[in-house]
Amino acid sequence: MSFNPKHVLGIKELSQEEITFILDTAGSFKEINTRDIKKVPTLRGKTIVNLFFEASTRTRTSFEIAGKRLSADTVNISASSSSVVKGETLEDTAQNIEAMHPDIIVMRHSASGACHYLAERLRCSVVNAGDGTHEHPSQALLDAFTIRQHKGEINGLTVAIIGDITHSRVVRSNIYCLSKLGANVRVAGPGTMLPPGLEKMGCTIFKNIEDAISGADCVMMLRIQRERQGASLIPSVREYARFFGLNEQKLKLAKEDAIVMHPGPINRGVELASAVADGAQNVILDQVENGVAVRMALLYLVAGGDKLQQN
Ligand code: CP
Repeated sequence: MSFNPKHVLGIKELSQEEITFILDTAGSFKEINTRDIKKVPTLRGKTIVNLFFEASTRTRTSFEIAGKRLSADTVNISASSSSVVKGETLEDTAQNIEAMHPDIIVMRHSASGACHYLAERLRCSVVNAGDGTHEHPSQALLDAFTIRQHKGEINGLTVAIIGDITHSRVVRSNIYCLSKLGANVRVAGPGTMLPPGLEKMGCTIFKNIEDAISGADCVMMLRIQRERQGASLIPSVREYARFFGLNEQKLKLAKEDAIVMHPGPINRGVELASAVADGAQNVILDQVENGVAVRMALLYLVAGGDKLQQN
């Protein structure tokens, strides 16, 4: 199979075969990250601009490292240090960047649909690094890659996702991704954090964490999205932690070999007790490690894939 999308905007648009192809391609890149010389010439001569209008540690750093390990020239622009603070619009900003002939713009933006908006207007490729409450495709792909690494295959697994479902782009991309790969996806959170229509996306809704994680193979915890008014949907953080936080006692309800995941950043003592965040079942730093390989695969495929030399 050959798959060279012009843009990567969401998981919703991808087929099961395309997702599997991306994960397999990431698998072939992973080893490069543990070499003494962590660099291949695959994207030499390509220019990638990481345009981040929202804060990020993992996504921005790993897209930058991914580009550099493939020998692309990478440039980082954050809204706070750009002319956006002087009132420049998204479209003007993007068109000015495109005038410098980048091959790929990787963008994170607080507005859902911002990446689609740019993709319709620019000649270069656009990769979505998180748009509002809509999608975070590279996160879901690295999550699927990590589940595959620990469980062998995703088909037939039960994955419970707990937290601020209303505001989470991670959960939306994961529901699409994991259900296309054959997982049974369960979702739980306070009633005020469960938007209507979720079942239509391919998941089962639970009102409490205990039922959602009972017998699960993977438990994925999400933080409250304070920057999107998530905290206003609960009476108090203390109460949330008591009813929806994951501690060692609740984790015993999941399968004995269940893995614990979190996209980061973690709010310790809120959605995740430190004993679980640092416990034997956590694979959180594996997720971060795999993020580099998955983003290498995305940049490689968007830039032309097998039309390029891989190493
Ligand atoms: N998981 C994730 O998107 O983390 P950052 O916000 O640090 O990029």
